[in-house]
Amino acid sequence: MEIIMIDGNKVLFSGMQATGSLTLGNYLGALKNWLTLSDEYMCFYSVVDLHSITIRQDPAELRRRARNLLTLYIAAGLDPEKNCIYYQSHVSGHAELAWILNCFTYMGELNRMTQYKDKAAKHADNINAGLFTYPVLMAADILLYQADVVPVGRDQLQHLELTRDVAQRFNAVYGDVFTIPEPYIGKSGASIKSLQDPAKKMSKSDENPNASIYLMDDPDTVMRKFKRAVTDSEACVRYREEQPGIMNLMNIYSVCTGRPNEEIEREFDGRGYGEFKTAVGEAVVDVLKPLQERFEDLSKNKDYIDGIIKNNAEKAGYYAQKTLRKVQKKVGFPEKIR
Ligand code: TRP
Repeated sequence: MEIIMIDGNKVLFSGMQATGSLTLGNYLGALKNWLTLSDEYMCFYSVVDLHSITIRQDPAELRRRARNLLTLYIAAGLDPEKNCIYYQSHVSGHAELAWILNCFTYMGELNRMTQYKDKAAKHADNINAGLFTYPVLMAADILLYQADVVPVGRDQLQHLELTRDVAQRFNAVYGDVFTIPEPYIGKSGASIKSLQDPAKKMSKSDENPNASIYLMDDPDTVMRKFKRAVTDSEACVRYREEQPGIMNLMNIYSVCTGRPNEEIEREFDGRGYGEFKTAVGEAVVDVLKPLQERFEDLSKNKDYIDGIIKNNAEKAGYYAQKTLRKVQKKVGFPEKIR
């Protein structure tokens, strides 16, 4: 599977789950890339709440987090007039197309999904069918909008590959119905690691709160977490594989300040980790502050957010219906009598 960057007015789809609080990793690795992509593509950014109930959720909490995530998309700078920012559950086409695609996906394919295996092991008391067919719903998300590109983390590449296989299988039977999507892996910050274990990705589901910087962390918390970040005993700020903790901090510092590694190495030559960690913490605080302020302002403006939710659900629904009608006709469902 080729990972490409396309120019022109093509369609982009991506989504995030509103489970857990977004981390600096989500922001630098995903959201920030979305911003630059939003000029080039017709973009659909979904809060994928259908996916979230594959694991038990507290309903009020899920609703609150979903709204916060949608607000955060906008606070991060995605223009809700130009980009379609919406709840997956507001467009019924996702579930409808997922059913049809379920009938074009093999058990064997789903059995191979590593994320399913991980989640099944983690939630052994609730290995439901939704957890198993999660990747099919994801395929439906993408194919429903005829997306050309899908920005995802590396952990989602296997799902993308499946999406392509299912789309090609469907097209082979019924003709060119679906656009075959390509994954987009951002170049910078794509892989921000845990502050407590630089071998692991920074994750919103990490049990150790010190491992992740949450986007809503206040400055003191940010500074404290960086002070505690795991490093090594080399005592020099160098970008080398042998120093994964320092590499991670340099990556973060570099994305936040826009400065290249060589310059950072020079700046901290002969200075201790304490000073470096303080500088990284301050750079992160500077990035988070305006984001948090915009989020607070937007959160107060209920009518504005409600308007966006309504308009964008309608817009997404329009495009979704176009694909869905075509698919329903292809598989042999009768036309509705109007
Ligand atoms: N499964 C993705 C994740 O956990 C979220 C997601 C759902 C998604 N549907 C999508 C991502 C479609 C990209 C495209 O990260």
